[in-house]
Amino acid sequence: MTLTDAALAARNNAHAPYSHFQVGAALEADDGRIFTGCNVENATYGLTVCAERVAVWKAISEGARKFQRIAIAADTDILTPPCGACRQILWEFCGDIEVTLTNLHGKTETLHLKDLFPRPFDASFL
Ligand code: THU
Repeated sequence: MTLTDAALAARNNAHAPYSHFQVGAALEADDGRIFTGCNVENATYGLTVCAERVAVWKAISEGARKFQRIAIAADTDILTPPCGACRQILWEFCGDIEVTLTNLHGKTETLHLKDLFPRPFDASFL
């Protein structure tokens, strides 16, 4: 299964009863393991966690520390990019990772996180 297929499959598990906006993510570690995530919403709205962060938390909690790329899937014609909070978290754990955006019709775009997040704040400032 390709990384984009894994993101599309994870999207089907989205718990999105409030927004009805389903997102899937698949994060590939350098040892080949793939960690998937979907958005998990909450009635408070603010406690919702995006698909990308679910994938990162799963990967970190399973001991993965280096990552190659992430795929993000949503049902939009204009490909859905990660939100600002997820960009910060992806930068923290993955650095300038390759990011592939995809939709349900096979449209894809691959870029680097630095293109989406050009002047990050990170541990280098501390
Ligand atoms: N969402 C994600 O999971 N990832 C994104 O990249 C964009 C937004 C989720 C959060 C919320 O459950 C729904 O999409 C609408 O914002």
